[in-house]
Formats: sequence, C-alpha cells, structure tokens
Amino acid sequence: MPSATANPYLEKTAPIGDKMSGWQIHKYRGISSLKFSNEIPIPKISSPTEILIEVHTSSVNPLDVMMMDGYGSKVLNLLRWKTENTEFPLTLGFDFYGVVKGKGNGVSKAFQIGDKVYGVSLPQIAGCHAEYVVVDQIYLRHKPEQLTDIEAGGLLYAGLTAWSSFYIWGLLGGLHGATTSQGGGKGKSVCILGASGGVGTIAVQMMKAENVNVTATCSTSAIPLVQSLGADNIIDYTKPNATEQFRGLTFDIILDSAGQGPAYAAKVPWQFGEYITLFPPLLRSIDSNGIVLGSLESLNSLLNENLEMLSKHKGFIMWGIFTPAPQGIDYLTKLAKEDKLKPIIDSVFEFKDMKAAYQKVIKGHLRGKVIVKIKEQN
Ligand SMILES: NC(=O)c1ccc[n+]([C@@H]2O[C@H](COP(=O)([O-])OP(=O)(O)OC[C@H]3O[C@@H](n4cnc5c(N)ncnc54)[C@H](OP(=O)(O)O)[C@@H]3O)[C@@H](O)[C@H]2O)c1
Repeated sequence: MPSATANPYLEKTAPIGDKMSGWQIHKYRGISSLKFSNEIPIPKISSPTEILIEVHTSSVNPLDVMMMDGYGSKVLNLLRWKTENTEFPLTLGFDFYGVVKGKGNGVSKAFQIGDKVYGVSLPQIAGCHAEYVVVDQIYLRHKPEQLTDIEAGGLLYAGLTAWSSFYIWGLLGGLHGATTSQGGGKGKSVCILGASGGVGTIAVQMMKAENVNVTATCSTSAIPLVQSLGADNIIDYTKPNATEQFRGLTFDIILDSAGQGPAYAAKVPWQFGEYITLFPPLLRSIDSNGIVLGSLESLNSLLNENLEMLSKHKGFIMWGIFTPAPQGIDYLTKLAKEDKLKPIIDSVFEFKDMKAAYQKVIKGHLRGKVIVKIKEQN
C-alpha cells in the first residue's frame, strides 16, 4: 500500500536524500544576488513523464546573467501560474549533462536509472545550476558517446538557439531543405555575426554540416578558431573597412549573435533573405511596460524595421528565440553522433566557483562555452 504522502507520479527513484546544494538568486540584483545553499529541496517529479537527473556538468549563458537582473521575469511569472513554483528562490541554468536518478510512471522504457543523459531545463520549473534537476523526458536524450561530459553540458542551449533561429524563425530566409543533416544546404549562403561565441561556434558547425557557404565575423584573435570550424569567409569586425567587405554579398540568412541589431542590418552594403537578431526587444519591453503594451510596442518596432528594409530593398528582419523543440534536440544529437558538431569550450569551473563562471560570461569575449563541473566525474 503506498503511503498517503507517496508521490503518485513516481515509478522509481535511486536512494537519495531530500536536500541538495545549488546556486540560487533571491532577488534581482545582478551577481551579488547569486548565493550558494546546501539546503535546497530536491525538485520533485510532478508529472508522469518527468525524470530526476543528478547534474554533472552545465553551462553558464548570457541569459543566466541577464535573468539575475530580472530579464524576462514578467513572462516567466506568467508561465509559472499553473505550477506550484514561486519566483524566488530562482535556480538558473538551461542545459546539462547528468545521470538519471528517478523516473515518473509514464516515462519511456528508453530511460532507466543510471542512464547518462543530456538535456535542457526550464528555470520557470527548475534550473540546473544545482545537484539535481527535474525535466520532462521530451527535453532529454542519451548523451552521444562522441561528446565528453564537459562538452555534453554545453551543447543544447546554444545549439537549440542556433537550430531554432535557422529552422523555425529563419524559414522566410529559405533554408528549408537544409534540415536533414545530409548536406542539404548546398548552394545556400549564411552569415554568422559573432561566430566565436557559444552560439556562433555551434552555428558555424551546423551550417558546414549542411554544406552551406558560411561567412563569419569575429575579432582578430578568434580567426584561427573560426577557421578551424570550417567558415569559408571570415571578416574581422575590428578592422576599419569591415562593413565594406560585405559589399555585393547576398545571404539567405544572417544570424546576428553579436548584438548588432536592425540598424546595422540597414547600414551594411549587403543583401539578405532574412536577418535574425538574437536580441529581440520583446521580453525587455514586457518587463518595462507589461504584457499587452510591451508586446504591442515590440511588434510595432519589428513592423517598422521591416518597412525600412523593404524601402531599402533588403530582406526581412526576424527575432531568433531559443526554442526547446524535441526535433531540434534530435537534430543536434544526430550531428554530434556523426562527429560533425562539438561545443567549443572556453573554460571550465568547479561548482564552488559558480560565481567566477558567471563573471567570465559577464566579462565577455568568450571563445565557445563556459562550463561548470557540478559533480566530480567518475
Ligand atoms: N534570443 C535568444 O533566445 C537567445 C539565446 C541565446 C543567446 N542569445 C543572445 O545571443 C548572444 C550570443 O550568445 P552567446 O552565448 O554566443 O554569447 P557569447 O558566448 O558571449 O558570444 C558572443 C561572441 O561575440 C563576439 N563579438 C562581440 N562583438 C562582436 C561584433 N561586433 N562582431 C562579431 N563578434 C562579436 C564575442 O567575442 P569578442 O568580443 O572577443 O569579439 C563573443 O565571442 C548573447 O548576447 C545572448 O544574450 C539570445
């Protein structure tokens, strides 16, 4: 007979306690709000398809840093309304590698206790900068053997940002057909601004796996790295004549992971099908003006930017937004298994040094991903 307090969704769990260590914020005050605690309740499986994972590695992303100042808080609170989760304390962290420690009674037999998995977590439910995280099985895959534990902790957030930019938000730009990881992008051309960062280094590899012609921008010191990823043409944005080097070039898609924005898209003498900015004003505008007014304001600015592009005979401006789609996770996993995609690692930090990892992201000039080792590797 199950006890009155037994979790009705749980199939089984490995023997673990009920408290864990992790890093959390209790208010929106930047890095000073990030605090360590070893008294955090281990998140509970609260639906049949959820899985409890012991987190071994995770990455720190610019979004974690922005969320410490309240970025996106209005929308996250809206997403929480049907859950028991409160705004604070908030555990950040979007992607991880770890080991299955518990499963709900509706979880596929494909996942068993002890399996090595990697996935994405959603901080409005539970972030992964802690010893344990619970995620739905749709956000989880077995770790490809081709990735080290460190690499697996840093692929999916940046990878899904690049994937959704190209294949969801980028459909107007004409990359359909290049989605098979069979080299279907022959004859297509993309430009990746910020090719040396977490998203950019993955975006270059994804597009080269599809035989897309890649032009990439980065600073002088990052040229050897971006070259090693296979970029066909590299433009050093720090040189005075950088924008002139785009004259006469036409791209199906430009992915802006360097924060240049629509004004830059209008100014540079290039042509494009679609310019996808990873800096949409939507969440910031909602934070300041509320859901309705904030959404209307940012949609209005998107409309005006597109009217300006139309008058200049350029392509569409579109927002790129991280989307944790299972198809994207499958796609990235397939590329990793084919040895066509590996996250570039900028630096690795110990769990106790989480703040230093956040500081590294704040300082910028990253060459790939910042990773935190949450549990010592076996
Ligand atoms: N909308 C979304 O859902 C979403 C999702 C993920 C990320 N993002 C945003 O996308 C941006 C990129 O993310 P990330 O994780 O790749 O950040 P990151 O790892 O910090 O990479 C940014 C890279 O851009 C380079 N860079 C800076 N200024 C540049 C310029 N003018 N031209 C070309 N390269 C430049 C930086 O190196 P140097 O400074 O040394 O040149 C760095 O390598 C972040 O700001 C993040 O907030 C948005």
